[in-house]
This record gives sequence, structure tokens and C-alpha cells, in this order.
Amino acid sequence: MVFARAPYSGFKVGAALLDSDGNIYTGCNIENPSLMLSTCAERVALLKALSEGASEFKALAIVASDGRYCFPCGSCRQLLKEFAPALVVYLKSEEGIQKYGVDELFPHPFEKET
Ligand code: THU
Repeated sequence: MVFARAPYSGFKVGAALLDSDGNIYTGCNIENPSLMLSTCAERVALLKALSEGASEFKALAIVASDGRYCFPCGSCRQLLKEFAPALVVYLKSEEGIQKYGVDELFPHPFEKET
């Protein structure tokens, strides 16, 4: 979260993704004046991991600068469902920690037969 680039929303997010080998891939949100090019923290962490060859994931932690629970957006949920379906997702807030499965967060994904 400390490296987040969020001058437009003022909302900084950090994510840490644990793979089955014990590696941790971190991510933060990175915004752009062309707002559609902004990228979520979860997606940065996941794409970093995939691009370095990680393929099985165990846990994802998400924290946001407003101190509230930050649920992943719909687009990130679709990506998590595709590439990290077995994840346990931990959300950290000032109140505590909540825990969710990917199926719970994204029960009806778009799936295409290949
Ligand atoms: N954002 C994330 O990084 N992760 C989420 O789960 C929700 C939203 C970012 C996108 C954007 O930079 C800012 O938070 C909200 O506008």
C-alpha cells in the first residue's frame, strides 16, 4: 500500500498473494489520468505472480488506506476465479479480519469452453 499511486481517488490499496511454494507477491493500485488504465492492487499482485511462473495460490490479503474492509472489484474476482480458484481471501480493516473463498466472492463466473 505504501507504494500505491492513487492521486485521483486518494484510496490506496495493498495486496499480498501467497503461492503454494511460500512465495509472496505484493501489489498496490496504480492510477493513471486516463482512469480506465488504472490497475487494482490485487491484479498487480496476481499478474506479477503469473508472469514469474507461479501457478498455485493459497492466500490473498487485502488492505486499504481508509481502514475499512476492501472487497476486490468484479474484474479482479473474475481473474482470481480463473487463475487462483483455491485462494482464501483475507480482508483486513481497523475492525479485524474477514475471510472468504473465491467461490463465495464470485459464485457465477463467466466461463468459456476452450
Ligand atoms: N482498488 C483496488 O486496488 N482494489 C480493490 O479491491 C478496489 C479498488 C483501487 C482502484 C482505484 O485505484 C481505487 O482503488 C478506487 O478508485
